[in-house]
Amino acid sequence: MRVLFVCLGNICRSPAAEGIFRQLVRERGVEGLFQIDSAGTGDWHVGQGPDERSAAACLRVGVDIRAHRARQVQKADFDRFDWILAADYDNMSALEHLQPQGSKAHVGLLMRFAGNGEFGSYIPDPYYGGPEGFSHMIELIRAGCEGFLASALKEMESVGK
Ligand code: 4NP
Repeated sequence: MRVLFVCLGNICRSPAAEGIFRQLVRERGVEGLFQIDSAGTGDWHVGQGPDERSAAACLRVGVDIRAHRARQVQKADFDRFDWILAADYDNMSALEHLQPQGSKAHVGLLMRFAGNGEFGSYIPDPYYGGPEGFSHMIELIRAGCEGFLASALKEMESVGK
């Protein structure tokens, strides 16, 4: 299963989601079942490394995203990925506008998979806020990624992939 995490700049939320999801599948021993990447709907930070605050928050939970370089979502991504998971509604809506007709990629909100409503439905943009926004971001991403992994494994099991 091919999974693309998407936010606005591809320097805070989606690289963190990519790194945390990579760690999760490794921990569960299912890394061979997934191709994982991230991208931004905006182009301002293309080629740049992750935001230092996001990289530090990831390092605190044992995830090193410092080698990440930002890229922008491309139309081809809708063929290359089965799931394109947005951090928030604005980015999901941008993805829906970009999605070519006939593309079978599932576009949705990552937080839809977090379950019980405790975490809310989207990951707020931490870029202009304080450091607590980045810790909160990590918790939201973990909840979303855990829920998504459970759902993805179930789906793969049911279609025998
Ligand atoms: P991200 O955060 O979408 O989580 O990577 C942002 C990064 C940069 C900007 C906004 C959000 N910006 O306006 O440059």
